[in-house]
Amino acid sequence: MRNNRVWFLVLALVLMSALALSACAAPAAAPAAPAGEGEQQGEAAAPAGENQLEIFSWWTAGGEADGLNAMYEIFKQKYPDVEIINATVAGGAGSNAKAVLATRMQSGDPPDSFQVHAGHELIDTWVVADKMEPVTFIFEDNGWMDAYPQGVIDIISANDEIWSVPVNIHRSNVLWYNKGIFEENGLEPPATMEDFFTVAEALKAAGVTPMAQGDNGVWADNHLFENVMLGVMGPEKYAGLWTGDTDWNGPEVKTALETYAKMMDYVNEDHAALNWDQAAQMVVDGDAAMYIMGDWVAGYYTSLGLEPDQDYGWAPVPGTDGVFMMLSDSFGLPKGAPHRENAIRWLEVAGSKEGQDAFNPLKGSIPARTDGDRELYNVYLQSAMDDFASDQIVPSYTHGAAASEGWVTGISDAMTLFVADLDVEAAQTNLAQACVDAGVCSE
Ligand code: GAL
Repeated sequence: MRNNRVWFLVLALVLMSALALSACAAPAAAPAAPAGEGEQQGEAAAPAGENQLEIFSWWTAGGEADGLNAMYEIFKQKYPDVEIINATVAGGAGSNAKAVLATRMQSGDPPDSFQVHAGHELIDTWVVADKMEPVTFIFEDNGWMDAYPQGVIDIISANDEIWSVPVNIHRSNVLWYNKGIFEENGLEPPATMEDFFTVAEALKAAGVTPMAQGDNGVWADNHLFENVMLGVMGPEKYAGLWTGDTDWNGPEVKTALETYAKMMDYVNEDHAALNWDQAAQMVVDGDAAMYIMGDWVAGYYTSLGLEPDQDYGWAPVPGTDGVFMMLSDSFGLPKGAPHRENAIRWLEVAGSKEGQDAFNPLKGSIPARTDGDRELYNVYLQSAMDDFASDQIVPSYTHGAAASEGWVTGISDAMTLFVADLDVEAAQTNLAQACVDAGVCSE
């Protein structure tokens, strides 16, 4: 528990320094909307004045869409007269949604509420740009100040205000595996990176694709890379990457890049054509033995009717036992929300115990609140609850907790080149430059 607090403190410090930096800089330019990319589902934005609620997210896959619907059901029971507009833009980790949102926010057309990662993604992008209303009053009116861990409150706070309502805690560092394949081959899930390659070799020799990957979006390369970095360098060095204390030009990052490049010998050939959920599917279909991805995979498997520990296994990513790489989805209140009153009602549902206990068992995440009803969660999620309470906590950069969106874009550019040529030296130079460009590292 103490470790837990220490790492949240680190997160809070990172945030505060980023705020201080960004106070003297112009808000980062938001990325342009990708031409023709991203399927805008749901209906068009409602004319203000009608009794509607437009919720913007990227939750379209099995599990995540079910969780969102469960919260909508609660909202509908409470406010049957309000029409919900489910504005989703498909694409894992918001790869398309974030650009569409940026365009809407900049043209003065915000949704009533939108999904945003707690931490730097929320604060550095939207709060610093003065596009959000604080939601501290919602926390106070609903008596939530004591319902959330202080560490969670810290990462959604800036300038003495709270800026979003977190609905969950997700874990990034999970290795999902096919129990049958492991048993047939007499293998145990790998505990270290060294074990990973021994196991991968054995699987390859047995004619099995060792690891699934679905990186049709660069975010999935970031996801694997943050996990390889954590596994290779450990939590202190990993956390130091985001404060400037760990040298991006140093030996740890080099080893992480070399390890990543080596892993690419063991993934499915069509990885660049697949989504995260298609890669997750490969493991339960027996087409690959392992997959490194966040625990929205557990939600996806639940949507298929699969049971943890029976139909699939999980373990910490090799080298990360005792560490919980966290991220948190939240919803905010944009300035100028067309149906502000309904948006506040929505945030009250999203932040309530009832809302979180309906959402999270389907989503594959644990509640951000401390009073979730453990009995409603499957054995995987119960293990995540236990680990979150006892492990060291480090922030995910891929999912907005550790670094600003501008910095993540710089890292993504480096990763796009790296996965194409696997040139470790060039990638390390580009990653080091991205830290300089973000204003966290000096030349
Ligand atoms: C993450 C998000 C999760 C899940 C995942 C896949 O960024 O926090 O809730 O949606 O992307 O899309």
